[in-house]
Amino acid sequence: EQKEKISVTFVDKDGDEIHIKVPTGMSMLEAAHENDIDLEGKIGKYLFVALDCTLGDLPSLSPVLLRAYFFKWIRLRACEGSIACSTCHVIVMDMDYYNKLEDPTDEENDMLDLAFGLTESSRLGCQVIAKPELDGIRLAIPAATRNFAVDGYVPKPH
Ligand code: FES
Repeated sequence: EQKEKISVTFVDKDGDEIHIKVPTGMSMLEAAHENDIDLEGKIGKYLFVALDCTLGDLPSLSPVLLRAYFFKWIRLRACEGSIACSTCHVIVMDMDYYNKLEDPTDEENDMLDLAFGLTESSRLGCQVIAKPELDGIRLAIPAATRNFAVDGYVPKPH
């Protein structure tokens, strides 16, 4: 039996649109995975950012801060939908659609608080489940590297 599919558009950090069909019941995190959409940023990217900020700030980096970077990196690795990271952060681009979603749980809100670039319509992609009313939803992917937000670390403009 064929499951009903809805249209979902992901908009990446460059503004490029990716149109996909998502079966009802599937989370946006899974849908992104299935369509090779880089929602969470590759571990390599985190490493790169870690190195980048470490080298750049080396003269001023204390061992404590270095350790903080490292633990943050560990924590930011994708949790595969168990609400233990914020790497699947997506921004619902239209409030009408945002309002059709189930309210976030306290756990989700706690995790969202850790996401860089939090907006009024931010959600965890693993908690947004496709349903017919969401047909046509547009989700912006925050810049992947921005998920690497160490307390007190401000990303350098490149
Ligand atoms: Fe970790 Fe969604 S994948 S909270």
